[in-house]
Formats: sequence, C-alpha cells, structure tokens
Amino acid sequence: MIDDKLSDVEEAVRKAAAAEILPRYRQLAAHEIVEKTGPHDLVTIADRQAEEHLTASLTRLLPGSVVVGEEAVHEDPAVYEALRGDAPVWIVDPVDGTRQFVRGEAGFCTLVALAHRGEVLASWTYAPVLDEMAVAVRGGGARLNGEVLRAGVPGSGATLRIATSHPDFSSERQKAALLGLNVKGVDARPCGSAGLEYLAVARGDLDAVAFSWELAWDHAAGLLLVGEAGGAHATVAGEPFRLTGGNALPFTAARDAATVARVVGLLGGSAA
Ligand code: IPD
Ligand code: CA
Ligand code: CA
Repeated sequence: MIDDKLSDVEEAVRKAAAAEILPRYRQLAAHEIVEKTGPHDLVTIADRQAEEHLTASLTRLLPGSVVVGEEAVHEDPAVYEALRGDAPVWIVDPVDGTRQFVRGEAGFCTLVALAHRGEVLASWTYAPVLDEMAVAVRGGGARLNGEVLRAGVPGSGATLRIATSHPDFSSERQKAALLGLNVKGVDARPCGSAGLEYLAVARGDLDAVAFSWELAWDHAAGLLLVGEAGGAHATVAGEPFRLTGGNALPFTAARDAATVARVVGLLGGSAA
C-alpha cells in the first residue's frame, strides 16, 4: 500500500514543516498561541496550519485514505472513529511538544503514522530544528537520517533510564502505578515530546518510556519505531497496545523485551 510512496510521504512531512512550522519557530505572536483544555495544553497557528497542510498532501498521496489529526479531533471528536474504519488512516500530530515549540526549544517534532485496520504500517518522526527524520516500516526496519536504528539492550546493572507521563496528564490511579518507578536503580523523569522520547528509546539513548494516556497521535509512530529498532512494548496487563483504545494503562515501550517485563512489573502488572 505504501512501499512505493515512502519517500513521497517523507517529502510531504518535510514540506509541511518547512512551510508551516519553521517560519514560526521563535516568531510566534501571543495571539497565535491558544490554550485548549488548560495551560499545559497549547495549540499554535503552526500546529493548525501544518495539520491542514498534511491533511491535503497525505490524502492526495493515497486516494481513499482519511486523516485522524490531533487538531481536527479537538474540533470534532467523532473524527477519531476513523481509526476503527476500513479506510487507511493517516494519524497526524502536527507539532508534538508544542510547549517546547512555544518556548523556542528545539525538542519538538511532527509525527505521522499510516495505519490500516488497527495496524501501523509505517511512521515518520521529524524534528525539523534538530534535522532528524526517523522512518519505520512494518517488517522493514527503522532508520534515522538513512542510518539503521537499533535500540540495543541496557547495560547489566546500569540504572534504567525511563521517561514517564507528566503528572498533570495522569489520573490518580495511573499516578499511583507510575510511583512504582520511584525505586533504586531506576531514573524516571517526566517526558518531553513523547515522539522524541520514543526516538530516544529506538536509538538506545533512553531505556524505556512508561505512559498513562493512549491518544493515537502521540504513540502510533513511536511504537512502530521502537518495535522496528528491535524494541518491544506492553500494557500493564501484559498485552499489546491497541491503537483504537481501551488499553490497560500505563503501558511501556523499551529497548528489549526483558526491560518491558521489568517495567511492567514495576508498574504493578505482569508481562505476558
Ligand atoms: C504532548 C507531548 C507531551 C506529553 C503530552 C502530549 P502535544 O503533545 O507529547 O510530551 O506529555 O501529554 O499531549 O500536545 O505537544 O502535541
Ligand atoms: Ca502530542
Ligand atoms: Ca500536538
């Protein structure tokens, strides 16, 4: 469905960032930044314009496909239902790490994943200021700027480095589960851009992520990226993450299956 279009999608992602995001980097006017559900949940003109740009270019590349984009779902939550439909779906987070973008920090990215009937087929993680483009293809591996990505394994006895959900976005129950990571031998910190945390796992710079929310645009691209780099993931119930939702939370993705099992154990679950 997508193999002959991989480079076209990459170009579309690069073009959207070049046209709609980069010109606004460190140039945003106050009225171009809007709070959605609260001060931690921001949207800017760059998020909106980049999503519109990608919606047009991606559906042109794959006739009959539909888009589930963060900002369109914010306007109309019913759009999310397309994840359960029969048409191929582009899952788009136009700017992941909007808080970093607004602060003028480089740690944000554009996330695109192509899914069909609940399975992610390919994904793109693009950090335009960092000049990093990570592409994963189901069964075809993961690459960062053309170089094969391998997550590797954590050193034996080394402190486990984990990025976790921000407490502001976690329910009391999820916060309680994440407290299990506050143990000796684990260095857990709140995540930055979720998409870039997955990339850090895929390149072995971070051992695991443990997240307590399941919105598809934050996770679809990164879960495939980590899996194709040789990593693994599981929910606290020891099950694979379901794109369509209803997962047992939190869930983790890690450099290898042994780390997934260890983190699931710390979260109070048992790996399958
Ligand atoms: C957010 C980032 C952040 C995470 C939030 C996400 P956004 O995405 O990935 O790291 O903690 O939960 O919503 O809003 O910048 O696209
Ligand atoms: Ca996001
Ligand atoms: Ca976003």
